[in-house]
Amino acid sequence: MDEKPGRAALHLARAASFAPSPHNSQPWFFVEEGHDRGFEVHADPERRMPLTDPDGREMVIACGAALFNARMAVRHLGFQPVVDVLPALADQDFLARVGFGAHAAATDEEESLARAVPLRHTHRGPFGPEPVTEEVLSDLRDQARAEGAILQVLDVPEKVGMLARLVNTAERADRADLWRAVELTHRVGPTGVPVAGCRAHPDATLLAGRDYLGLSRRYTVPERRRGAGTGIVAVLCTPYDHRADWLLAGQALQRLLLCAAGHGVMAGFHTQPLERPDLREEVRRWVTAGRHPQMVLRLGRPLHTRSTLRRPLYDVLTRGPVPLRR
Ligand SMILES: Cc1cc2nc3c(=O)[nH]c(=O)nc-3n(C[C@H](O)[C@H](O)[C@H](O)COP(=O)(O)O)c2cc1C
Repeated sequence: MDEKPGRAALHLARAASFAPSPHNSQPWFFVEEGHDRGFEVHADPERRMPLTDPDGREMVIACGAALFNARMAVRHLGFQPVVDVLPALADQDFLARVGFGAHAAATDEEESLARAVPLRHTHRGPFGPEPVTEEVLSDLRDQARAEGAILQVLDVPEKVGMLARLVNTAERADRADLWRAVELTHRVGPTGVPVAGCRAHPDATLLAGRDYLGLSRRYTVPERRRGAGTGIVAVLCTPYDHRADWLLAGQALQRLLLCAAGHGVMAGFHTQPLERPDLREEVRRWVTAGRHPQMVLRLGRPLHTRSTLRRPLYDVLTRGPVPLRR
């Protein structure tokens, strides 16, 4: 058997790998079925963050984002993706199978989403002064809705303040928790979050960021200097909260992030309160009107962007049959 992966599988795996993941953990692997017959997306629980993501919700969201990129890669090749979600009852980490359906040229919108895959980057710290227009926000809401999720943009300062308090409470608790701090700092470096990508002080914006480098222990940002460049604050929610909903949330997230990137808008993430059940419940109750919050994000126009390395393709793409758990 020819052991080299097919060109389509390589194309899909490359696109899928560009997805965002918690601290660049890349908790996935992909399987090429036969020679370019199908493409499988699997979660890799060994790459899950054990303390902050015990039930694997964020791991599945990241894989959902990878799945959306794979779908766009299939559209770019001129086929309709045929997606089977959670196809194996006995293996809940086998998240999706993507087959090649009928020939159909990609629409302009799909082409522009596919083009944005390598251009989208996570932003940390303040955004530049150029605003994100209501037209763009409305487009992003539509993108989330098209995948079955809701992008709730917080346009009332009281709601932003309430969410900021919950983020800051979670972040303070994380900083005081030695083991969580160790888990986080382990992710800093060339195979995780690059040092250059986390140099902004985590307390510069209204929503506290992760303190990857321990900057808050070295100096504090005075209260009056906080908040400029926070950008638009939003929460991505789903009506339900099962594994299939997390996968849906990941696809919706990536769809709106790619659309945003096409407009020159990037996102920063503040998922700390969603990693603590009591605070996640507070967000659900007081901020998202009972919908299940899946991601907390800020949207804005950065003055510069920075890309983050991914694992090599031979590490993430294997050829079927599905390998035993590694
Ligand atoms: C579920 C999830 C949660 C995340 N949470 C955070 C976060 O709290 N803080 C942060 O700075 N980045 C967060 N990120 C972004 C990742 O750190 C980022 O995707 C990764 O480092 C790869 O970089 P890139 O998105 O620029 O390609 C999160 C991403 C995902 C998918």
